[in-house]
Amino acid sequence: MRVVVAITGASGVDYAVTLLRTLKEEKQLIISAHGERLIEIESAISREEIESFADKTYEDSDLEASVASGSSQFDAMCIVPCSMSTLSKIACGIADTLITRTASVCLKEGRKLILVPRETPLSKIHIDNMSRLAGAGAIILPAMPAFYSGPKEIQDMVNFIVGKIMEALGLEHQLYKRWKG
Ligand SMILES: Cc1cc2nc3c(=O)[nH]c(=O)nc-3n(C[C@H](O)[C@H](O)[C@H](O)COP(=O)(O)O)c2cc1C
Repeated sequence: MRVVVAITGASGVDYAVTLLRTLKEEKQLIISAHGERLIEIESAISREEIESFADKTYEDSDLEASVASGSSQFDAMCIVPCSMSTLSKIACGIADTLITRTASVCLKEGRKLILVPRETPLSKIHIDNMSRLAGAGAIILPAMPAFYSGPKEIQDMVNFIVGKIMEALGLEHQLYKRWKG
């Protein structure tokens, strides 16, 4: 399985870091300019270290990268964290960056597209755009950690969301304890 992971300028870079560390599959990484800024602001590790978890990193401006084409053989894309700006652009079909173009490729080719927004509260425009994307086949997976798994540390809450992403990708994980009833 080949997965494209994109980091945009929303809070929650640690979700992407944990996903990249957890995924054993081939990983291609794209970081937006504002995603890079969020790495500087809130991540304990550098962009270079984050890039080292991926097999390949593309510039967000590189619209000639392989993943920009429907002929590229990747299986899924996860935008984590996903800003409302990027989410709204994808919902409108705007494909002016490698991240938005690759997301557009996922939708047109019927490949898995997982968006992990963090924004709160949400405006009607945000909700309408999410609804539009869900209708087009995207999976909207908000960064909303649950408490039934008994989180003790921030990393436990991060693991819960990344576990949900792994499940959406159809992959096994041991990131949180499932509810047994
Ligand atoms: C510290 C900081 C935190 C931010 N957090 C969010 C967020 O959680 N969600 C969001 O939609 N935008 C957030 N933004 C705003 C985005 O970074 C901004 O809309 C940017 O244009 C997104 O660009 P991109 O989608 O190309 O990465 C944040 C900005 C800063 C400086």
